[in-house]
Amino acid sequence: MDSKGSVELQPGEGAPGCPQEGLPCPPDSSELVRECLNQFQLTERQLRQIQARILGSMELALRGEASPVPAVRMLPAYVGSIPHGTEQGDFLVLELGATGASLRVLWVTLTGMEGCQMEPRSQEFLIPQELMLGPGQQLFDFAARCLSEFLDAFPVGNRRLQLGFSFSFPCHQTGLDRSILISWTKGFRCSGVEGQDVVQLLRDAIKRQGAYSVDVVAVVNDTVGTMMGCGPGSAPCEVGLVVDTGTNACYMEEARHVAVLDEDRGRVCVSIEWGSFGDDGVLGPVLTTFDRILDQESLNPGAQRFEKMIGGLYLGELVRQVLAHLAQHGVLFGGRTSPALLSQGGVLLEHVAEMEDPSTGTARVRAILQGLGLSPGAEDAELVQRVCAAVCTRAARLCAAALAAVLTRLQHGREQQTLQIAVATGGQVFERHPRFLSVLRETVKLLAPECDVSFTPSVDGGGRGVAMVTAVAARVAAHRRMLEETLALFRLNHEQLAQVQAQMREAMAQGLRGEASSLRMLPTYVRATPDGSERGDFLALDLGGTNFRVLLVRVAASGVQITSEIYSIPEHVAQGPGEQLFDLIVDCILNFQQKQGLSGQSLPLGFTFSFPCRQVGLDQGILLNWTKGFSASDCEGQDVVGLLRQAIVRKQAVKLNVVAIVNDTVGTMMSCGYEDPRCEVGLIVGTGTNACYMEELQNVAGVAGDVGLMCINMEWGAFGDDGSLGTLTTCFDELVDQASINPGKQRFEKMISGMYLGEIVRHILLHLTSLGVLFRGQKTQRLQTRDIFKTKFLSEIESDSLALRQVRAILEDLGLPLTSDDALMVLEVCQAVSQRAAQLCGAGVAAVVEKIRENRGLDKLTVSVGVDGTLYKLHPHFSGLVAATVRELAPRCVVTFLQSEDGSGKGAALVTAVACRLAQQAPV
Ligand code: G6P
Ligand code: BGC
Ligand code: BGC
Repeated sequence: MDSKGSVELQPGEGAPGCPQEGLPCPPDSSELVRECLNQFQLTERQLRQIQARILGSMELALRGEASPVPAVRMLPAYVGSIPHGTEQGDFLVLELGATGASLRVLWVTLTGMEGCQMEPRSQEFLIPQELMLGPGQQLFDFAARCLSEFLDAFPVGNRRLQLGFSFSFPCHQTGLDRSILISWTKGFRCSGVEGQDVVQLLRDAIKRQGAYSVDVVAVVNDTVGTMMGCGPGSAPCEVGLVVDTGTNACYMEEARHVAVLDEDRGRVCVSIEWGSFGDDGVLGPVLTTFDRILDQESLNPGAQRFEKMIGGLYLGELVRQVLAHLAQHGVLFGGRTSPALLSQGGVLLEHVAEMEDPSTGTARVRAILQGLGLSPGAEDAELVQRVCAAVCTRAARLCAAALAAVLTRLQHGREQQTLQIAVATGGQVFERHPRFLSVLRETVKLLAPECDVSFTPSVDGGGRGVAMVTAVAARVAAHRRMLEETLALFRLNHEQLAQVQAQMREAMAQGLRGEASSLRMLPTYVRATPDGSERGDFLALDLGGTNFRVLLVRVAASGVQITSEIYSIPEHVAQGPGEQLFDLIVDCILNFQQKQGLSGQSLPLGFTFSFPCRQVGLDQGILLNWTKGFSASDCEGQDVVGLLRQAIVRKQAVKLNVVAIVNDTVGTMMSCGYEDPRCEVGLIVGTGTNACYMEELQNVAGVAGDVGLMCINMEWGAFGDDGSLGTLTTCFDELVDQASINPGKQRFEKMISGMYLGEIVRHILLHLTSLGVLFRGQKTQRLQTRDIFKTKFLSEIESDSLALRQVRAILEDLGLPLTSDDALMVLEVCQAVSQRAAQLCGAGVAAVVEKIRENRGLDKLTVSVGVDGTLYKLHPHFSGLVAATVRELAPRCVVTFLQSEDGSGKGAALVTAVACRLAQQAPV
């Protein structure tokens, strides 16, 4: 590369002397011919420089860098998914621009069955020259008229048809059906189109035509149609290469490498628009005088320089230029020319292709030249064939250098040393030119030896490919509609959330008054939050969350020290005889005491028991009903502390001094309240969900006294068990509820908490699979397995950093056949389910803090909420959505959410400490 980065000319490279600008013509004709043809010779070194240069421009454009202006455009084509092969239906395709002055309409029927393909019916319409250079509206009206004329032959009636628009010009696409023309190329230069959305122009023209109802659902570049139309039975093509009147290629790039997309997921098709390579002058030294003349005389001088060395619209012209030059220098046709030889477009691609074809005998070549009004001599035919070969070989080799750049880019993008790739080819130059593909293949092998490339001719010129894209677009649009319809059930608006808040307020009031309510509003006998004067060692138990823990909590002036041990409660114990459960609890305590050297000591014990209990005292709690997968027998209706004490006796363990039983919400509030005295609400969003808060004693029916506060365990998990959430629950919630061990119970919990969100997602995935929207409609055994889709998957899948790869990994572990569309949709399902859960939880908190504010007749309330629970803590967006919903529904409350570090065991110990302090202060 020289200092300007242009492709360098080495000694013997290119053509010093004629017809270089300003150089005199040497007398010897064969020398003239040799030097003329030499100009079209490119060395391997020059080809590698062009390859490197194109690769550099591609990566510059992918990064979205604008200076220097990349020589190639790299335009995302919004085609993210390769056809399933299951696409079916009738689709219309309108092709404009691929094959120069003609427009083609196709009716493609996709059968959805691999290898069973119906021949598309098509019709070609020649585009009058004046329409290619006139007002754009006329061109689009012509296209709409052709479409109607084509459809007149079909029994369409008033069927609504879907059309894919293959528009072979550089466009900025902003969606599968929105594409802004950047600039015309090839023989087109209509006014009023550049900068416009060509889909809208076509829709308007079809509407003006008013004959048929046709939906333009997708617009694609012809290279994309070519890639998508990869012949059946071959490996899916990931590069589409067109050499027709113009030339271009597209390929599947990693979406995360396409800066303009801001998408880090999956692959996306990028139309390279390599025709404009060299418009910045980098090809200067290898351009021949013939290239320069051709460019000057073209409709777009200075633009599409690379295309003008390769495209079928220009090969004939280049050959004509050279033949005219040699004829004018007396080297050909006895120095005689003809109008065809001297006029632009006089020599066409088909002439060149046939003349250059080695199997075409010189007689045929001479006949063709005579057809151009020339009288070729005996040797002329052979020289003309050499000129055609020189021009076309250079074109094929330049095309190969560009393709090799794409292959290298694919290696970079996929971090692969070697690459196996299928390239779909399309266009007249491939179809007509006998040697173009073989020269291309050879040169690619030379420039990209580590790539194993198979070339697959695209069937029927990409029409089927465009139909595939249209089918994919239609399928994606239909799937998106079905996905949106399904997820719309989970999208709660402000009114609905305010309704939940109001209903919860009503249920709270009824519960506090001791009336029938789905909210039990259980007094906890915790009257005060810690005041920091508590001291001593306490044992604490924490049952009801993900883990069962035994803790030693040392409360000192310097703070609280916690030592704890996690024990697991097997499902068969949680759902077995109650005695067995409590025996296990005592075994754990004994094990813990032994490990901590506490054996034989009887420390005051606080028991966090995270299930609905009607407390009749601080150390007496009657279990109302199990939740969260627990169902141990002979416990409901029993005093849980009594059950524990009986187990202690059964185990002849030292007499443990059970001082308090608290709910995990209370423990969490107390634990956070120790740090922040404004913490008057406890919230759990873990396996289950619930909240407690400090209520005015006067509002609590059934508890003596009306001064001061008492902590109320709301047991909001049961909110809606009276059917009041019926308008919000979905069929998926019903499925989860019916399959649970407590159908009809804990309905609010089953829409929010960790034990259930994964199951809701699984049922939605099954539903979408049965609609064919996901996993190609294949329901795997595993996806039908209960609890196989863990709620923690939602937190992992929705994490901003690794989403798609994470989704893939998780779903592949579940043995699900996955496309990137699937992964994106699974992500959206998770987002919808967790967002609803967080919003419902936020509506609940808003109800509680507004209650406290109104209790205190405050215009503004500042309060803290102590929170714990795996879902709240681990989900990347849950806590933020809860806080946002509270701000929206309780704007007069300033709410701080404090994540509890030590869990509610510490809280239980503090409640015990307060109880012990009060007991010591109590007058004997
Ligand atoms: C912490 C608390 C437990 C509570 C649990 C809820 O671990 O210490 O008392 O039950 O959170 O969350 P989880 O996700 O474990 O159900
Ligand atoms: C256009 C491309 C098109 C190519 C092949 C070029 O002139 O800019 O969009 O793909 O021709 O038809
Ligand atoms: C229980 C509550 C508990 C919540 C959070 C619910 O299932 O009924 O008592 O606070 O889970 O663990």
